[in-house]
Amino acid sequence: MFMEKKTTARACANIALIKYWGKRDEELFLPTKSSLSVSLNELYTTTNVNIHKGDSDIILVNNQNFSESKNIVQFLDFFRKQHSIQDKYFIDSHNTFPTAAGLASSASGFAALSMALNQLHQLNLSKKDLSILARHGSGSACRSIYDGFVLWNKGKKKDGSDSYAEQIFEQSHWPEFRLIVLLLNESEKSISSRKAMKLTMESSPIYQDWITRSEARIAPMIEAIKNKNIDSVGAIAETDALEMHECMRAASPSISYFLPETITTINLVKSLRSSGIPCYVTIDAGPNVKLMTLDPFVDIIMAAIEKKTCFMKEGFKASFRGIICRM
Ligand code: PMV
Repeated sequence: MFMEKKTTARACANIALIKYWGKRDEELFLPTKSSLSVSLNELYTTTNVNIHKGDSDIILVNNQNFSESKNIVQFLDFFRKQHSIQDKYFIDSHNTFPTAAGLASSASGFAALSMALNQLHQLNLSKKDLSILARHGSGSACRSIYDGFVLWNKGKKKDGSDSYAEQIFEQSHWPEFRLIVLLLNESEKSISSRKAMKLTMESSPIYQDWITRSEARIAPMIEAIKNKNIDSVGAIAETDALEMHECMRAASPSISYFLPETITTINLVKSLRSSGIPCYVTIDAGPNVKLMTLDPFVDIIMAAIEKKTCFMKEGFKASFRGIICRM
């Protein structure tokens, strides 16, 4: 059934320090604003792609059948059309972290798939072209083509040819930087980011103000990363993320990804900070919280979290996990 050709590619998840939330063009996945992320080495997707001599694509994600996934099939159709390819594919993809729990699995997934397709057909696409290709699967995927700190410039052109990501600092730039992913809940998100960002754009009265403020945070964020200033990086990222969630809450109907444990964690982080520990939160389209800090503070932060009673509830402790990510 399968031809000889087979390729494997791997791409890291990324967490945005300045968020992308909203598209100016839905079909081309063009964002309303620029965004900036950090790629995480420990959280990645490995994707195998084979040519499949059947009528339709076969898609497995973590051994589950995703062959009906509209988003993945649409992406494959876009790729086939762009490169005048007729082939169907057998895709076998594995994440080292929960799918669709606000941990950017679609970002690493579409980035790994773009890289694997590029290898399979020996297209020799540049990183820029791979970033543009991955963007058509999920906006944030355009950032997962790179490691280190990554900037996705929103671009101005209607055809999206100037909307792609670039590495701004290498992985080795800031060895002490840590991102702790707290898996508070591993179930599927209540509303997809695609739907939620559309609803926010269409109905949140505070969305436009956030766009202006968030775009203006890019330059100070780059400066803060350059200077390895955790307090500036953390404060800017935390404000940006919490404001994004405020925009969602102000939408109609209101959107909230937070669980009680999400709020408890935010409060705990504030109290850690008041005792002099550099620790900041960022939250994506899900209840899980990511903490930004430096290596020497990881143990003390994890100890404080594990002591918190809400994480000790029966049944919760077993599923509670913190993944400490180096870049
Ligand atoms: O690329 P999407 O459609 O999964 O959207 C990602 C949105 C956020 O994760 C919330 C923010 C971001 O910039 O990654």
